[in-house]
Amino acid sequence: MKLLIFLMFLNFEMVNCGHNIAPDFMNWMNAHLSAQEVANIVRDDLTTGSFGGGIYTGTVRPAIFVHGLNNQAGDLWQVRRDFVADGFPIQRGFATSWGRGTESLNLDVKMQCAFVQHIRRFMEIVIEYTNATQIDVLGYSMGSPIARKAILGGKCIDNSTVDLGAPLTSKIHTYVSIAGANQGSQLCFLPWFDVCNLDTGLTCFSKFLKEINTQQNYESTFRSFNIASTSDVMVGYFACGKKASAFTGAVEYKLNGKSHTETEFETGSLQLSLLRQNSTSFSGVSRRIPKKLMLSRKNPFNEIKKSMGKTGREEKMPPSSTSAPEFEFQN
Ligand SMILES: *[C@@H]1O[C@H](CO)[C@@H](O)[C@H](O)[C@H]1NC(C)=O
Ligand SMILES: *[C@@H]1O[C@H](CO)[C@@H](O)[C@H](O)[C@H]1NC(C)=O
Ligand SMILES: *[C@@H]1O[C@H](CO)[C@@H](O)[C@H](O)[C@H]1NC(C)=O
Repeated sequence: MKLLIFLMFLNFEMVNCGHNIAPDFMNWMNAHLSAQEVANIVRDDLTTGSFGGGIYTGTVRPAIFVHGLNNQAGDLWQVRRDFVADGFPIQRGFATSWGRGTESLNLDVKMQCAFVQHIRRFMEIVIEYTNATQIDVLGYSMGSPIARKAILGGKCIDNSTVDLGAPLTSKIHTYVSIAGANQGSQLCFLPWFDVCNLDTGLTCFSKFLKEINTQQNYESTFRSFNIASTSDVMVGYFACGKKASAFTGAVEYKLNGKSHTETEFETGSLQLSLLRQNSTSFSGVSRRIPKKLMLSRKNPFNEIKKSMGKTGREEKMPPSSTSAPEFEFQN
């Protein structure tokens, strides 16, 4: 037990090493993967490009965190901290980084094949390393559509010679989208920048989004959730005439007054509580997304101008009433 506590400290103290992978997981990767593959997972080119692993003998399912645009694994430190504070074993929380790591506002990023392959491979590696029957996956912002495609598998949207393989659905117990751009982003009302491109971008009906939303109920075997805030101006609560974060089969957890980044990083306890739902403790029923929902009244031009004026993706909302979050079901 003492050793365990020591290891936990060690994990937290290693943040400047470029990764936060526990020695046990690192040894396992070195024994089972090529040096190039280990480097891709670990991402020592970033401040904290990855985390997770460690000797563990309990029964808590491993969870994989898939970060969003212009972020890296380490940007999820608050979520990880809150999980651990609520009793989640630190060894069971895993993340790697896709993309170039933390950047202030780089919109020339697509949901390209390499990112999807990378996240899918990481899921497979975590399943193999932990011997887990099932894992949980949490997708943040743009990381949600990427994680969903990784689970869905099939051919890459931008490279049909790459077949990712069969869906990983049977391996995923619970899927949680947090401020996820599952239907697109309200900022992509025009196909500006790579991030909004018509093939692999967050434009409403990009080929990528069309595919992951035409296929349904593949994200998990038990239940999928969608945490979304009405004050999120990056993804938007509404986009494309739909709830931007909604997807078929997901139970919505609606927040008020939380910005995009607050929704991602300051709801760790809520995220964990959703992973802990099970058939005896949860009585909700998920339903289908309505075909048509009201359009946002917001002028996306003003919203994007406001966002571009800020450094990074941190958008500040005026203080608003922090009313209690509520469950809302798709109907
Ligand atoms: C996972 O399974 C392998 C092969 O059966 C075994 O060697 C290894 O010890 C297991 N790992 C854990 C963490 O139980
Ligand atoms: C598609 O993927 C294959 C296999 O990884 C690769 O050789 C090829 O360069 C890719 N094509 C494009 C256009 O990226
Ligand atoms: C399901 O949830 C209940 C209440 O939180 C808990 O007592 C029970 O152990 C859970 N079952 C499983 C299989 O996780």
